[in-house]
Amino acid sequence: MLKKPIPVILDGDPGHDDAIGWVVANASEDFNILAITAVNGNCSTAKAAYNSLRIAALIGYDGPVAKGQDNPLYVESLKAPTNVHGESGLDGPALPEPKHPLDNLSAVELMSKLISESNEKVVIIATGPLTNVAALLLTHPEVKENIAHISIMGGGIQFGNWTPAAEFNILIDPEAADIVFKSGIHIFMAGLDVTEKALVCQPDVQRIKEIGNPVSEIVWKWLDFFYQFHHKLGYPGAPLHDLCAVMVLIHPEVFTLKDMYVEVETASDYSKGTTVGDYYGITGKKPNCTCLMDVNREQFIDYMIKYIEKYSEV
Ligand code: BDR
Ligand code: CA
Repeated sequence: MLKKPIPVILDGDPGHDDAIGWVVANASEDFNILAITAVNGNCSTAKAAYNSLRIAALIGYDGPVAKGQDNPLYVESLKAPTNVHGESGLDGPALPEPKHPLDNLSAVELMSKLISESNEKVVIIATGPLTNVAALLLTHPEVKENIAHISIMGGGIQFGNWTPAAEFNILIDPEAADIVFKSGIHIFMAGLDVTEKALVCQPDVQRIKEIGNPVSEIVWKWLDFFYQFHHKLGYPGAPLHDLCAVMVLIHPEVFTLKDMYVEVETASDYSKGTTVGDYYGITGKKPNCTCLMDVNREQFIDYMIKYIEKYSEV
């Protein structure tokens, strides 16, 4: 029997690693992308929406793209860090201009419509702050029943990257993350525990360069840009955080997974935005998350390259 593709909504703040996650998602026959929705994070929502349209043009995605929430739910947004992804939010190679305008609906309204209308339960892949997803759950709680899981890049059980304890996506909107983690919807959490090991190193970039199709040409240049920032920090490669949240849904065997109960710290001087994981099951609370703890880096890279190669067939 033919396996049905998973209906997914890609929500993010692209962003080099969001973009590469979407390149892979679009190339995989295991996904049916219902929509792309942009959120405030790496850059303003307006820039993220424009970048989303340009990525859509690059990968040949013709479905709806919608602009999401401009600000976090309750807290003032931290200033977007231009040193990680550049001034545009997606600096590096020139991208094609959008082929389509933004959808008339806001991200939240579009998500609500598509999830309600879907015959299959939908998966949301969220690779930016969780503002859009939380706003959806607050304003349209009835859609929960038709969401299979939410696969996020965010948090870290062991450490943070924006404060010693908190990861960027969660720190930008901790209250939104808290709503999502307490929603009762199962979460796949690609936190820093795994994403900092999902490194693309120089020989991998060379392999992508050798593919020689229009998408691989952009991807290796994105990786080159993203690597420069991380290299200065001492990383041996560029961490593809957001691709982990995509890849776990189609190749879970590449990852070491651990179910646990995770809560988000929303009010604290030192640990606001921390994802507190009950690693040893001390609370006795039922796990709400499948956390990605480790990755077989070589297999992860091989799969990524396999999907980028698919753009040669078009
Ligand atoms: C997260 O922050 C962004 O820079 C990346 O796109 C990723 O989603 C990593 O902390
Ligand atoms: Ca991101």
